[in-house]
Amino acid sequence: MSKKIDLLQMVEYGGCSAKISPKLLEDILKYLPLPTDPNILVDIDTHDDAGVYRVNDSLALVLTTDFFPPVCSDPYEFGQISAANSISDVYAMGGDPVLALNIMMFPSAKLPVEAYAEILKGGYDKATEAGVRIIGGHTIDDFPPKYGLAVVGYIHPDKIITNAGAKSGDLLILTKPIGTAIILAGHRLGLVSDSDLEEAKRLMKLLNKSGAAVMKKFNIRGATDVTGFGLAGHALKMARASKVSLNIRMNDVPLIGNSYNLIDEGCIPGASFRNLEYAEKDIDFASGLDYNLKMIAFDAQTSGGLLFSSSQDKVSNILEDLNTAGLLNSKVIGSVTEYKGKYIYLNN
Ligand code: CO
Ligand code: CO
Ligand code: CO
Repeated sequence: MSKKIDLLQMVEYGGCSAKISPKLLEDILKYLPLPTDPNILVDIDTHDDAGVYRVNDSLALVLTTDFFPPVCSDPYEFGQISAANSISDVYAMGGDPVLALNIMMFPSAKLPVEAYAEILKGGYDKATEAGVRIIGGHTIDDFPPKYGLAVVGYIHPDKIITNAGAKSGDLLILTKPIGTAIILAGHRLGLVSDSDLEEAKRLMKLLNKSGAAVMKKFNIRGATDVTGFGLAGHALKMARASKVSLNIRMNDVPLIGNSYNLIDEGCIPGASFRNLEYAEKDIDFASGLDYNLKMIAFDAQTSGGLLFSSSQDKVSNILEDLNTAGLLNSKVIGSVTEYKGKYIYLNN
């Protein structure tokens, strides 16, 4: 390629920040009739990460799709990040991803075909790392470019991990630091160091495979991955489905690089305000809650980490295993109680 391609110049919002607002999504989903079939084990009723369908007593299929506009400049890295994000919903349910289809929107008049090939190559390499075979796909001519996968995974019907599995008395564990949209917004303004940008990209490319393996080893039943609706938004979906309250201590939430200070520079993407607007009626904001920490709770994550609940007796062993797996920022960030009138209690 003669001229270096910069995908970020083509989009205003990339990655999971480009999701429609959670409020609008709920309004739309009201019109979608839910099929009734005893083999449907998980559907959109609990707003879970993926749908699950029983094939027989020992096998169910996990089905999910995600795609979005570029979240970084380099086509190959964009392919890697988008594939890691798409596959993540299978890991969040405790499944083993097996097969995938490419979903691609590509502006053939505005980008050289090499960029298309690089995106697909990045997706292929990340899928291969996950043990996923891409066996087809679909492309249409469209601007801006968008890429993702539809993924099929296997799971035992009795071992599904869902939003509905958090129990009072559990602790909440997060496996990746927060701040991908803040870092990206800061990068566009030239406020982010190379090392912080590299760290954000490394985390977005990182599969939730090893985190999911730890969840399975310790028989975790309540989990989600943290993506476009932000930490508080996905925690809210978990609390609602589990009919519990979640206490989150924002000071314990690991952050990417300089995310906290970037808020002071105005690096708050529009998606954060949409996420806040959707969730705030169900959240108790502690008096004196730090504004930066509050907005970080609503930062849209692209290919974020796993958020799961565990009984307290297992937590130190789980953290040890997550560390051994290289998830060095894994932290306990809060706890689960019986429902106390609000679903989320957000504290400093
Ligand atoms: Co998800
Ligand atoms: Co998803
Ligand atoms: Co789930």
